[in-house]
Amino acid sequence: MTSSIDRPGTANGEVEVRGLAKRYGAVDALQPTSFRVTGGTFVTLLGPSGSGKTTLLKLIAGFEEPSAGSVHISGHAITDMAPYRRNVGFVFQQYALFPHLTVAQNVSYPLEMRRMPRVAIDKAVANTLELVRLSDLARRRPSQLSGGQQQRVALARAIVFRPPVLLMDEPMAALDKRLREEMQLEIRGLQRTLGITTISVTHDQSEALVMSDRILVLRDGMLQQSGTPEDLYHNPRNEFVASFVGESNILRGRVENGPGGPSMALGDGLGIPLGAPAPPAGAEIVCVLRPEAIEIGGEPSVDHFETVGEVVDRIFCGDVVRVRLRLVGAPETTLVAKMPTQRRLVFVPDTGTMVRVAWRTEELIVIERH
Ligand SMILES: Nc1ncnc2c1ncn2[C@@H]1O[C@H](COP(=O)(O)OP(=O)(O)OP(=O)(O)O)[C@@H](O)[C@H]1O
Ligand SMILES: [Mg+2]
Repeated sequence: MTSSIDRPGTANGEVEVRGLAKRYGAVDALQPTSFRVTGGTFVTLLGPSGSGKTTLLKLIAGFEEPSAGSVHISGHAITDMAPYRRNVGFVFQQYALFPHLTVAQNVSYPLEMRRMPRVAIDKAVANTLELVRLSDLARRRPSQLSGGQQQRVALARAIVFRPPVLLMDEPMAALDKRLREEMQLEIRGLQRTLGITTISVTHDQSEALVMSDRILVLRDGMLQQSGTPEDLYHNPRNEFVASFVGESNILRGRVENGPGGPSMALGDGLGIPLGAPAPPAGAEIVCVLRPEAIEIGGEPSVDHFETVGEVVDRIFCGDVVRVRLRLVGAPETTLVAKMPTQRRLVFVPDTGTMVRVAWRTEELIVIERH
Protein backbone atom coordinates (compact mmCIF):
# COMPACT_ATOMS: atom_id res chain seq x y z
CA MET A 1 0.00 0.00 0.00
CA THR A 2 1.10 3.59 -0.48
CA SER A 3 2.08 5.64 2.52
CA SER A 4 1.09 9.04 1.18
CA ILE A 5 -1.17 10.58 -1.39
CA ASP A 6 0.72 13.71 -2.23
CA ARG A 7 4.20 14.67 -3.38
CA PRO A 8 5.10 11.16 -4.43
CA GLY A 9 8.78 10.45 -4.04
CA THR A 10 9.37 13.19 -1.49
CA ALA A 11 7.03 12.14 1.30
CA ASN A 12 9.07 9.24 2.65
CA GLY A 13 7.94 10.08 6.18
CA GLU A 14 11.39 10.40 7.70
CA VAL A 15 11.31 12.59 10.80
CA GLU A 16 14.46 14.26 12.03
CA VAL A 17 15.02 16.70 14.86
CA ARG A 18 18.30 18.56 15.24
CA GLY A 19 19.26 20.23 18.50
CA LEU A 20 15.58 20.69 19.27
CA ALA A 21 14.97 22.37 22.64
CA LYS A 22 12.15 24.03 24.56
CA ARG A 23 12.37 26.29 27.55
CA TYR A 24 9.31 27.57 29.43
CA GLY A 25 10.60 30.46 31.59
CA ALA A 26 13.05 28.78 33.94
CA VAL A 27 12.01 25.22 33.00
CA ASP A 28 14.03 23.29 30.45
CA ALA A 29 11.17 21.10 29.25
CA LEU A 30 13.40 19.69 26.50
CA GLN A 31 17.19 19.90 26.42
CA PRO A 32 18.81 20.04 22.95
CA THR A 33 17.80 16.75 21.38
CA SER A 34 18.70 15.14 18.06
CA PHE A 35 17.44 11.94 16.47
CA ARG A 36 16.16 10.58 13.21
CA VAL A 37 13.16 8.30 12.70
CA THR A 38 13.25 6.18 9.55
CA GLY A 39 10.15 6.43 7.38
CA GLY A 40 7.49 3.79 8.10
CA THR A 41 8.73 2.86 11.56
CA PHE A 42 6.95 2.96 14.92
CA VAL A 43 8.82 4.89 17.57
CA THR A 44 7.80 5.32 21.19
CA LEU A 45 8.79 8.18 23.45
CA LEU A 46 8.99 6.63 26.92
CA GLY A 47 9.60 8.47 30.15
CA PRO A 48 8.10 9.41 33.51
CA SER A 49 5.71 12.30 34.04
CA GLY A 50 7.31 15.66 33.26
CA SER A 51 10.17 14.18 31.21
CA GLY A 52 9.29 16.24 28.11
CA LYS A 53 7.40 13.70 25.98
CA THR A 54 4.41 15.89 25.15
CA THR A 55 6.69 18.89 24.63
CA LEU A 56 8.74 16.99 22.05
CA LEU A 57 5.61 15.78 20.25
CA LYS A 58 4.12 19.30 20.17
CA LEU A 59 7.33 20.69 18.72
CA ILE A 60 7.22 18.12 15.92
CA ALA A 61 3.53 18.84 15.29
CA GLY A 62 4.08 22.60 15.39
CA PHE A 63 1.81 23.35 18.36
CA GLU A 64 4.78 24.85 20.19
CA GLU A 65 7.70 26.88 18.92
CA PRO A 66 11.15 25.56 19.77
CA SER A 67 13.65 27.67 21.72
CA ALA A 68 16.37 26.15 19.53
CA GLY A 69 16.86 23.56 16.82
CA SER A 70 14.90 22.35 13.83
CA VAL A 71 12.38 19.76 12.67
CA HIS A 72 12.58 18.00 9.30
CA ILE A 73 9.95 15.80 7.73
CA SER A 74 10.70 13.82 4.58
CA GLY A 75 13.89 15.85 4.23
CA HIS A 76 12.13 19.27 4.36
CA ALA A 77 12.82 21.77 7.13
CA ILE A 78 9.37 22.54 8.54
CA THR A 79 10.28 24.29 11.77
CA ASP A 80 8.50 27.51 10.78
CA MET A 81 5.53 25.88 9.08
CA ALA A 82 2.01 26.10 10.56
CA PRO A 83 0.77 22.80 12.06
CA TYR A 84 -1.90 22.10 9.45
CA ARG A 85 0.60 22.54 6.61
CA ARG A 86 2.96 19.91 8.05
CA ASN A 87 0.63 17.13 6.92
CA VAL A 88 0.99 15.31 10.23
CA GLY A 89 -1.80 13.35 11.94
CA PHE A 90 -2.19 13.89 15.68
CA VAL A 91 -4.07 11.90 18.33
CA PHE A 92 -4.33 13.71 21.65
CA GLN A 93 -4.44 12.12 25.06
CA GLN A 94 -8.06 13.17 25.49
CA TYR A 95 -9.48 12.35 22.12
CA ALA A 96 -10.80 15.86 21.61
CA LEU A 97 -13.67 14.77 19.39
CA PHE A 98 -16.31 17.32 18.43
CA PRO A 99 -19.29 16.31 20.62
CA HIS A 100 -21.96 17.83 18.35
CA LEU A 101 -20.70 16.09 15.20
CA THR A 102 -21.31 12.48 14.20
CA VAL A 103 -18.51 9.97 13.85
CA ALA A 104 -18.44 10.46 10.07
CA GLN A 105 -18.44 14.26 10.44
CA ASN A 106 -15.61 14.11 12.97
CA VAL A 107 -13.55 12.00 10.61
CA SER A 108 -14.31 14.15 7.56
CA TYR A 109 -13.25 17.36 9.33
CA PRO A 110 -9.57 17.34 8.26
CA LEU A 111 -10.60 16.77 4.64
CA GLU A 112 -13.07 19.63 4.70
CA MET A 113 -10.31 21.85 6.11
CA ARG A 114 -8.32 20.81 3.06
CA ARG A 115 -11.26 21.69 0.80
CA MET A 116 -11.44 18.29 -0.80
CA PRO A 117 -14.43 17.66 -3.10
CA ARG A 118 -17.47 16.11 -1.39
CA VAL A 119 -17.37 12.84 -3.31
CA ALA A 120 -13.70 12.30 -2.50
CA ILE A 121 -14.38 13.12 1.16
CA ASP A 122 -17.20 10.60 1.44
CA LYS A 123 -15.08 7.94 -0.14
CA ALA A 124 -12.05 8.58 2.08
CA VAL A 125 -14.21 8.68 5.22
CA ALA A 126 -15.96 5.41 4.36
CA ASN A 127 -12.61 3.85 3.62
CA THR A 128 -11.02 4.95 6.86
CA LEU A 129 -14.01 4.01 9.01
CA GLU A 130 -13.75 0.55 7.56
CA LEU A 131 -10.05 0.39 8.42
CA VAL A 132 -10.79 1.14 12.08
CA ARG A 133 -13.93 -1.04 12.05
CA LEU A 134 -16.40 1.76 12.73
CA SER A 135 -18.51 1.70 9.57
CA ASP A 136 -21.64 0.69 11.49
CA LEU A 137 -21.34 3.58 13.92
CA ALA A 138 -20.82 6.39 11.38
CA ARG A 139 -23.97 8.28 12.40
CA ARG A 140 -23.50 8.15 16.17
CA ARG A 141 -22.19 11.00 18.27
CA PRO A 142 -19.10 10.61 20.50
CA SER A 143 -21.23 10.48 23.68
CA GLN A 144 -22.90 7.34 22.32
CA LEU A 145 -19.59 5.48 21.99
CA SER A 146 -17.41 3.43 24.31
CA GLY A 147 -13.89 4.59 25.17
CA GLY A 148 -12.31 2.21 22.69
CA GLN A 149 -14.67 3.34 19.94
CA GLN A 150 -13.94 7.00 20.65
CA GLN A 151 -10.27 6.16 20.48
CA ARG A 152 -10.79 4.66 17.03
CA VAL A 153 -12.63 7.78 15.85
CA ALA A 154 -9.71 9.92 16.97
CA LEU A 155 -7.34 7.61 15.14
CA ALA A 156 -9.50 7.64 12.00
CA ARG A 157 -9.57 11.44 12.04
CA ALA A 158 -5.79 11.53 12.34
CA ILE A 159 -5.14 9.20 9.39
CA VAL A 160 -8.04 10.03 7.03
CA PHE A 161 -5.89 12.42 4.99
CA ARG A 162 -3.16 9.75 4.77
CA PRO A 163 -0.40 11.75 6.43
CA PRO A 164 3.09 10.29 6.09
CA VAL A 165 3.57 10.93 9.81
CA LEU A 166 1.29 10.17 12.76
CA LEU A 167 1.89 11.53 16.27
CA MET A 168 0.04 10.11 19.27
CA ASP A 169 0.13 11.39 22.85
CA GLU A 170 -0.77 8.54 25.21
CA PRO A 171 -3.55 7.43 22.88
CA MET A 172 -4.64 4.58 25.13
CA ALA A 173 -4.32 6.16 28.56
CA ALA A 174 -8.10 6.33 29.05
CA LEU A 175 -8.73 2.68 28.22
CA ASP A 176 -8.82 -0.25 30.64
CA LYS A 177 -6.01 -2.80 30.50
CA ARG A 178 -7.69 -5.36 28.30
CA LEU A 179 -8.97 -2.89 25.75
CA ARG A 180 -5.61 -1.16 25.78
CA GLU A 181 -3.83 -4.38 24.89
CA GLU A 182 -6.32 -5.04 22.12
CA MET A 183 -5.91 -1.52 20.72
CA GLN A 184 -2.12 -1.80 20.89
CA LEU A 185 -2.19 -4.72 18.48
CA GLU A 186 -4.80 -3.05 16.31
CA ILE A 187 -2.91 0.23 16.01
CA ARG A 188 0.31 -1.62 15.35
CA GLY A 189 -1.35 -3.64 12.56
CA LEU A 190 -2.86 -0.53 11.00
CA GLN A 191 0.44 1.33 11.19
CA ARG A 192 2.18 -1.51 9.35
CA THR A 193 -0.55 -1.73 6.70
CA LEU A 194 -0.45 1.99 5.99
CA GLY A 195 3.30 2.36 6.43
CA ILE A 196 2.82 5.58 8.42
CA THR A 197 5.83 6.79 10.41
CA THR A 198 4.43 6.87 13.93
CA ILE A 199 5.75 8.58 17.03
CA SER A 200 3.74 7.63 20.09
CA VAL A 201 4.09 8.77 23.70
CA THR A 202 3.65 6.54 26.69
CA HIS A 203 4.88 6.07 30.21
CA ASP A 204 3.84 2.42 30.12
CA GLN A 205 6.97 0.38 29.44
CA SER A 206 5.14 -2.78 28.43
CA GLU A 207 3.22 -0.80 25.80
CA ALA A 208 6.53 0.56 24.51
CA LEU A 209 8.05 -2.91 24.32
CA VAL A 210 5.04 -4.41 22.53
CA MET A 211 4.53 -1.71 19.92
CA SER A 212 7.84 -0.18 18.97
CA ASP A 213 10.51 -0.66 16.36
CA ARG A 214 12.52 1.79 18.44
CA ILE A 215 12.13 3.34 21.85
CA LEU A 216 13.48 6.73 22.92
CA VAL A 217 13.80 7.02 26.69
CA LEU A 218 13.49 10.53 28.13
CA ARG A 219 14.23 11.82 31.59
CA ASP A 220 14.12 15.45 32.77
CA GLY A 221 13.98 16.68 29.18
CA MET A 222 17.04 14.67 28.20
CA LEU A 223 17.24 11.76 25.81
CA GLN A 224 18.77 8.87 27.77
CA GLN A 225 18.94 6.15 25.15
CA SER A 226 17.44 5.20 21.84
CA GLY A 227 17.29 1.67 20.50
CA THR A 228 15.21 -1.37 19.70
CA PRO A 229 13.21 -2.86 22.59
CA GLU A 230 15.78 -5.70 22.77
CA ASP A 231 18.68 -3.22 22.85
CA LEU A 232 17.24 -1.27 25.72
CA TYR A 233 16.37 -4.38 27.66
CA HIS A 234 19.67 -6.17 27.23
CA ASN A 235 22.05 -3.22 27.01
CA PRO A 236 20.63 -0.38 29.07
CA ARG A 237 23.03 2.55 29.06
CA ASN A 238 22.41 3.61 32.64
CA GLU A 239 20.57 2.73 35.81
CA PHE A 240 17.57 4.85 34.89
CA VAL A 241 16.98 3.03 31.61
CA ALA A 242 17.60 -0.33 33.29
CA SER A 243 14.94 0.32 35.92
CA PHE A 244 12.49 1.98 33.56
CA VAL A 245 12.51 -0.69 30.85
CA GLY A 246 11.64 -4.02 32.45
CA GLU A 247 12.30 -5.05 36.03
CA SER A 248 15.87 -5.03 37.32
CA ASN A 249 18.06 -5.99 40.22
CA ILE A 250 20.67 -3.26 40.55
CA LEU A 251 23.95 -4.30 42.16
CA ARG A 252 26.77 -1.95 43.13
CA GLY A 253 30.34 -2.85 44.00
CA ARG A 254 34.02 -2.61 43.29
CA VAL A 255 35.92 -4.66 40.74
CA GLU A 256 38.54 -7.04 42.17
CA ASN A 257 40.94 -9.38 40.44
CA GLY A 258 41.19 -12.78 42.10
CA PRO A 259 42.59 -16.18 41.16
CA GLY A 260 39.22 -17.09 39.67
CA GLY A 261 39.16 -13.99 37.44
CA PRO A 262 37.56 -10.57 37.86
CA SER A 263 34.67 -10.22 40.28
CA MET A 264 32.49 -7.57 41.82
CA ALA A 265 32.71 -7.20 45.59
CA LEU A 266 29.35 -6.12 46.96
CA GLY A 267 29.30 -3.61 49.83
CA ASP A 268 28.82 -6.45 52.26
CA GLY A 269 31.73 -8.52 50.99
CA LEU A 270 30.34 -11.21 48.71
CA GLY A 271 32.30 -11.56 45.47
CA ILE A 272 30.34 -12.07 42.25
CA PRO A 273 32.22 -13.10 39.10
CA LEU A 274 32.17 -10.79 36.09
CA GLY A 275 32.17 -11.89 32.47
CA ALA A 276 34.66 -10.58 29.93
CA PRO A 277 35.55 -7.87 29.23
CA ALA A 278 35.53 -6.77 32.87
CA PRO A 279 36.32 -3.19 33.94
CA PRO A 280 39.74 -2.69 35.60
CA ALA A 281 40.28 -3.63 39.24
CA GLY A 282 39.28 -0.86 41.62
CA ALA A 283 36.49 0.54 39.41
CA GLU A 284 33.17 1.20 41.13
CA ILE A 285 30.49 -0.36 38.98
CA VAL A 286 26.71 -0.66 38.74
CA CYS A 287 25.29 -3.88 37.30
CA VAL A 288 21.88 -5.13 36.25
CA LEU A 289 20.64 -8.65 36.76
CA ARG A 290 17.20 -9.33 35.28
CA PRO A 291 14.85 -11.31 37.54
CA GLU A 292 14.27 -14.04 34.97
CA ALA A 293 18.03 -14.69 34.78
CA ILE A 294 18.12 -15.95 38.36
CA GLU A 295 17.69 -19.66 38.98
CA ILE A 296 16.31 -20.93 42.27
CA GLY A 297 16.87 -24.51 43.37
CA GLY A 298 18.02 -27.02 40.77
CA GLU A 299 21.42 -28.62 40.27
CA PRO A 300 24.80 -26.87 40.26
CA SER A 301 26.17 -26.10 36.80
CA VAL A 302 29.73 -25.19 35.77
CA ASP A 303 28.85 -22.08 33.76
CA HIS A 304 26.79 -20.59 36.59
CA PHE A 305 27.74 -18.51 39.57
CA GLU A 306 26.42 -20.49 42.52
CA THR A 307 25.45 -19.19 45.93
CA VAL A 308 22.84 -19.65 48.61
CA GLY A 309 20.02 -17.35 49.60
CA GLU A 310 17.06 -17.19 51.93
CA VAL A 311 13.56 -16.74 50.53
CA VAL A 312 12.29 -13.50 52.06
CA ASP A 313 8.90 -13.60 50.40
CA ARG A 314 7.07 -14.82 47.31
CA ILE A 315 4.25 -13.23 45.41
CA PHE A 316 2.02 -15.07 42.98
CA CYS A 317 1.49 -12.91 39.86
CA GLY A 318 -0.33 -15.35 37.58
CA ASP A 319 2.24 -16.14 34.91
CA VAL A 320 5.19 -15.91 37.32
CA VAL A 321 5.98 -16.07 41.01
CA ARG A 322 8.18 -13.22 42.19
CA VAL A 323 10.58 -14.48 44.82
CA ARG A 324 12.63 -12.11 46.97
CA LEU A 325 15.95 -13.51 48.13
CA ARG A 326 18.59 -12.45 50.65
CA LEU A 327 22.01 -13.76 49.72
CA VAL A 328 24.17 -15.51 52.30
CA GLY A 329 27.30 -13.40 52.70
CA ALA A 330 25.47 -10.28 51.52
CA PRO A 331 22.56 -9.72 53.91
CA GLU A 332 22.14 -6.13 52.71
CA THR A 333 21.47 -7.31 49.16
CA THR A 334 18.06 -8.60 48.18
CA LEU A 335 17.35 -9.91 44.72
CA VAL A 336 14.04 -10.45 42.98
CA ALA A 337 13.75 -13.59 40.86
CA LYS A 338 10.85 -14.59 38.64
CA MET A 339 9.87 -18.22 38.34
CA PRO A 340 7.42 -19.31 35.66
CA THR A 341 4.28 -20.93 37.04
CA GLN A 342 3.97 -24.06 34.96
CA ARG A 343 2.41 -25.68 37.98
CA ARG A 344 3.77 -28.79 39.58
CA LEU A 345 6.78 -28.78 37.25
CA VAL A 346 8.45 -25.92 39.07
CA PHE A 347 9.20 -25.95 42.73
CA VAL A 348 8.63 -22.65 44.54
CA PRO A 349 10.28 -22.70 47.97
CA ASP A 350 8.55 -21.40 51.10
CA THR A 351 9.47 -18.20 52.85
CA GLY A 352 12.43 -18.79 55.18
CA THR A 353 13.89 -21.66 53.12
CA MET A 354 17.58 -21.62 52.16
CA VAL A 355 17.92 -22.31 48.44
CA ARG A 356 20.47 -22.52 45.66
CA VAL A 357 20.63 -19.16 43.84
CA ALA A 358 22.50 -19.12 40.55
CA TRP A 359 22.90 -17.31 37.27
CA ARG A 360 25.04 -17.44 34.16
CA THR A 361 27.94 -15.04 34.59
CA GLU A 362 27.13 -13.23 31.35
CA GLU A 363 23.63 -12.36 32.62
CA LEU A 364 25.18 -9.77 34.94
CA ILE A 365 25.39 -6.64 32.78
CA VAL A 366 27.80 -3.87 33.75
CA ILE A 367 26.03 -0.59 32.97
CA GLU A 368 28.02 2.11 34.75
CA ARG A 369 31.62 2.45 35.84
CA HIS A 370 33.21 5.25 37.84
N1 LIG B 1 3.16 25.61 28.97
C1 LIG B 1 4.07 25.29 29.91
N2 LIG B 1 4.57 26.24 30.73
C2 LIG B 1 5.51 25.94 31.65
N3 LIG B 1 6.02 24.71 31.86
C3 LIG B 1 5.57 23.72 31.07
C4 LIG B 1 4.58 23.94 30.07
N4 LIG B 1 4.32 22.76 29.46
C5 LIG B 1 5.11 21.86 30.06
N5 LIG B 1 5.87 22.43 31.03
C6 LIG B 1 6.87 21.74 31.87
O1 LIG B 1 7.78 21.08 31.02
C7 LIG B 1 8.15 19.82 31.55
C8 LIG B 1 7.83 18.72 30.54
O2 LIG B 1 6.43 18.66 30.35
P1 LIG B 1 5.72 17.62 29.37
O3 LIG B 1 4.29 17.97 29.32
O4 LIG B 1 6.46 17.60 28.09
O5 LIG B 1 5.96 16.24 30.14
P2 LIG B 1 5.44 14.77 29.81
O6 LIG B 1 6.66 13.92 29.69
O7 LIG B 1 4.52 14.82 28.66
O8 LIG B 1 4.68 14.36 31.15
P3 LIG B 1 3.31 13.51 31.36
O9 LIG B 1 3.70 12.05 31.31
O10 LIG B 1 2.89 13.90 32.75
O11 LIG B 1 2.32 13.91 30.31
C9 LIG B 1 7.39 19.68 32.86
O12 LIG B 1 8.24 20.03 33.89
C10 LIG B 1 6.26 20.65 32.72
O13 LIG B 1 5.86 21.14 33.97
MG1 LIG C 1 2.46 14.41 28.43
